[in-house]
Amino acid sequence: MGLWETRVVPHIVDRSCGIPQLDPLREQACAGLRGQVVEIGFGSGSNIGRYPASVTEVVAVEPSDVAWRLSAARRAGSSVPVTRVGLDGARLPLADASVDTALVTFSLCTIPDVASALAELRRVLRPGGSIGFAEHGLSPDASVARWQHRLDGLQQRLFGGCHLTRDIPALLESAGFTVERLEQSYLPGPALSRPWGYLSAGLGVPSSRYAGQRSHP
Ligand SMILES: C[S@@+](CC[C@H](N)C(=O)[O-])C[C@H]1O[C@@H](n2cnc3c(N)ncnc32)[C@H](O)[C@@H]1O
Repeated sequence: MGLWETRVVPHIVDRSCGIPQLDPLREQACAGLRGQVVEIGFGSGSNIGRYPASVTEVVAVEPSDVAWRLSAARRAGSSVPVTRVGLDGARLPLADASVDTALVTFSLCTIPDVASALAELRRVLRPGGSIGFAEHGLSPDASVARWQHRLDGLQQRLFGGCHLTRDIPALLESAGFTVERLEQSYLPGPALSRPWGYLSAGLGVPSSRYAGQRSHP
């Protein structure tokens, strides 16, 4: 990884993902959280302050030291203790069925092995657990999706591996989650911004009939 990706992108992400227009999606993603929460792609801690009172602890997974440092002031002001436990959502250093709920916001676009990361979340969730999510992804509108596919390579090169073409609800369902609550819409703004602005937020629960769960490595 070059200096752009390690030093500059975390600052861009902190600004671009910190815009107030995304606040309602973050609220939706955080609404069902309780107990011990695993948050993957923690970034600079933009969800701090939105964890409900039922959350007792957050264990964060974040590979970028720069993003983790950017989160320091937010962590210092947080009423919920936050500990960084790992660097890769695709390999969680957590026991099977050991956390109450999970959170992922604007990171399923970026995590390289996203299928393994979601499988890991499913593995570590206790029975009765759930995952709150808010993400951008593939638009159902053919003309927007065409632009997303055209721009995807450039987007990945410029923004730390961020994909425009991931179908978030489909990824969750393939990983063995049932999407129980889902709101989808474009971020308000000009039509030109739509390839970046198709948003999905909601809640997933482990599907009862799913047989693909892995055991801890
Ligand atoms: C666009 S940022 C989102 C940050 C934050 N969740 C938010 O809502 O603002 C994506 C984050 O995913 C992180 N990331 C990249 N690869 C990852 C991986 N393998 N496991 C966990 N997080 C990863 C990046 O370092 C970055 O902080």
